[in-house]
Amino acid sequence: MKKYLVIGNPLEHSLSPKIHNFWLKENKINAIYNKETLLDEDLENFIKMIRDKKIEGANVTVPFKEKIIKFIDILSDEAKDANSVNTVYMSENNIIGHNTDIAGFYLSLKPEIINLKDKNILILGAGGVAPSIILGLRMMGVKKITVSNRTKNKALKLKEKFSFIEVLNWGEAVKANAIINTTSVGLKKTDEIQLDKSLFTSDTFFYDVIYNPRETNFIKKAKNKGCIVQNGLMMFINQAAASFKTWHNIMPNIDKNLIKFLQND
Ligand code: ATR
Repeated sequence: MKKYLVIGNPLEHSLSPKIHNFWLKENKINAIYNKETLLDEDLENFIKMIRDKKIEGANVTVPFKEKIIKFIDILSDEAKDANSVNTVYMSENNIIGHNTDIAGFYLSLKPEIINLKDKNILILGAGGVAPSIILGLRMMGVKKITVSNRTKNKALKLKEKFSFIEVLNWGEAVKANAIINTTSVGLKKTDEIQLDKSLFTSDTFFYDVIYNPRETNFIKKAKNKGCIVQNGLMMFINQAAASFKTWHNIMPNIDKNLIKFLQND
C-alpha cells in the first residue's frame, strides 16, 4: 500500500489526513495518508524515505515549508516563486518540491462573492504562507499590498523579494478593502490580534488562513462588526485537491458533503 504523509510541528490542527483518506477511498486508490510530527533534524532522513520509496509523497506544513527546500532536487516554478514547498514527491529519481498554496488561495475566493481586483490589501504576518498569498493576490490583479508583521525585519525581507509591497509597523492601521491574517495567532481559541478600530468598516473583507478553529477571534470580531468574512477552509481544500491531482493525476471532488464532513470535526 502506498504511503502519504503530512509533516509539520505542531500538527494537531491538520485536517490533511482526513481529506486525503476521504478522497483515496472515494477514488478507490490503495493508499493511506498519515501525519507525522517532525523536528528540523528529521527532515533529511524524511526526504531519504521518499527517495527509498518508503513514502510516495508528502505535504509539508508549518514550520518546514522553507526549511525543506535545501533537501529538494527540483522546485516547481510556483515553489521557486514563493520560496515555499507544501507538496513533495519523486519523479524520475528526483525529489520534486511543489507549491499548491498559491492555487489554493487563488481558487478559494470566488469572484462573484468577493472580487479583489484593484483593491487595497493588508496582510498580517510575514511567515511561511505569506509569499503564497502575495502571489495569489498578484494573480487577482489587486492594486496595493501592505504587509504588517510583529517582527518588522521579516516583512522587510519579504519586500526584498516582492519590491511592490508596502511594509507597515505592527499595530498600525492603513486603509484596506481586505485584511488577511496569515499569522499563527488564532490557532489557540484564546489568541487574539489587537487591531486598530478603524480597520473594521462594514465593507471590509476579513480572511483568515486558519481553518481550525473554524472561527478565530479575528473572524468573530469582524463578523460582529458586520464585515464579510472567510476562514481558510476553502484554501485548505483547494491546496489539498491540487496536491492530490499532482500525486494521483485525478482531480478529486469538492462538494457540500466534503465541506460538511470536514467541518464535522
Ligand atoms: P515562521 O516564523 O517560521 O515563518 P510561521 O508559522 O510561518 O513561522 O509564521 C508565523 C507568523 O505568525 C509570523 O508572521 C509571526 O510573526 P513573527 O515573524 O514576528 O514571529 C506571526 N506570529 C506568531 N505569533 C505571533 C504573535 N503572538 N503576535 C503577532 N504575530 C505572531
